[in-house]
Amino acid sequence: MALSTPRAYGGAMNAPLLAAVPWWRPATGHRLLIHGGRPLVGTYPISGAKNAALPLMVSALLTPHLVTLRNMPANLDVAVLAALLQRLGCEMHWSHTPSGLSVTISADRVKPREIAQDLVTRMRASVLLLGALLARCGEASMPLPGGDAIGLRGVDYHLAGLRALGATVELDDGMIHATAPAGLRGTDIVLPRPSVGATENLMLAAVLASGTTTIRNAACEPEIADMAACLSAMGASISGAGTHEIAIAGGKPLGGAVHDVLPDRIEFGTLACAAAITDGELLLPHGRIDLLGAAAPLLAAAGVMLEESDAGIVARRGRDDLQGIDVTTGPYPGFATDLQAPTMALLTRASGASAITETIFEQRFRHIDELRRMGANISVVGRTAVVRGVERLSGAAATCGDVRAAAALVIAGLSASGRTILDGLDHLDRGYDRMAEKLAACGADIVRGSETR
Ligand code: EPU
Repeated sequence: MALSTPRAYGGAMNAPLLAAVPWWRPATGHRLLIHGGRPLVGTYPISGAKNAALPLMVSALLTPHLVTLRNMPANLDVAVLAALLQRLGCEMHWSHTPSGLSVTISADRVKPREIAQDLVTRMRASVLLLGALLARCGEASMPLPGGDAIGLRGVDYHLAGLRALGATVELDDGMIHATAPAGLRGTDIVLPRPSVGATENLMLAAVLASGTTTIRNAACEPEIADMAACLSAMGASISGAGTHEIAIAGGKPLGGAVHDVLPDRIEFGTLACAAAITDGELLLPHGRIDLLGAAAPLLAAAGVMLEESDAGIVARRGRDDLQGIDVTTGPYPGFATDLQAPTMALLTRASGASAITETIFEQRFRHIDELRRMGANISVVGRTAVVRGVERLSGAAATCGDVRAAAALVIAGLSASGRTILDGLDHLDRGYDRMAEKLAACGADIVRGSETR
């Protein structure tokens, strides 16, 4: 089915940047107005994973052949990366099929032109372009990447790994210049910690490097295994993806592939929290409990019930009240840092106290002040937040500070009495495909607008 009616996404400020992405149109209104207290009941289909889709799109740079990605999430980060790839010379054909948004990418005529500041600084995942462009074109230049303000999030592991693969990498006035005129050579790399992005970047570089590369202490998030599955379908030889040791026999030219993006485990966990806190019941097609890792038993202990059905997972609160739990985020299969904020929103209404320790990003508590405005009882000592459940939250004006903080505030707003007004919606749009629209279809009183009601 051809792509016909553009849908509305994102704030108007993105319009000039994203003019070339056909499904992206500025949404009306920069505020979300939520009247909380209604149970969510209905079906909320889980999208393809943002954090799988982004590296998969970059993988298409490694081949002159066509790569088709199905089940693409239509969010702002995907649109920004699409605009970036187009500027590098990729052709992209988008279509809406019954199973969702698909894109076919042709990087036949890709050119390693300097990557523009305006798009790179919006999204940290753009750093993945370095590994892929170096491997395909022998050079890449880009500004140091941006992204959420959730911590230092250096790129030192990425750059050290690319140097180990034989690249010359220089930093000059906020720009990264990398070259490998004689090609990259496979080698042994030990990551200081299991970084998702560094693992992906080095895999992208290593599949076209001569010889074998081993990445030890690699991240083993499901999105990495998904990228490896796509690269393997393109003809790469990769073993161990999804474990802490990945071996890549590089150097073979890659062909095209058709690949279905993995379902989004973070969106799934987030909607499960939303169902439970509103005393509702959501059918979550494509949700996968097996991808939740440590979050599955912990959410169950908090009282979030997840039951398999033929049509998907049914999420609701169990028979008892929500209960406080202790959570420490960690690399997969540990509790995902991306679920920390939504889970904290859930626990603001649980009986008893919860201790939530964030170990991945040092500034990922940006939702706490906003949750407090809504009446949450949260105190912070170092990297641990202690949440004491309250009887009720009250609607308030709040600002979304990062992608997952935005989801947490939506959850809190849905559960609060009265009106919540959320600003900073670019963050919500970055990570979620029309969340407000889908929640409204499940009975939420949530609209996007410019003024208060
Ligand atoms: N780190 C460094 N140096 C590096 C790389 C990482 O110090 O060169 C540090 C980071 O500062 C951080 C830790 O290592 O403290 C882990 O960072 P990682 O590289 O694993 O994270 P990332 O690749 O930047 C991805 C996701 C994040 C998710 C994290 C952890 C994408 C596009 N982003 O980020 O997703 O939180 O892994 O699972 O895949 C989100 O979706 O909201 C989001 C932030």
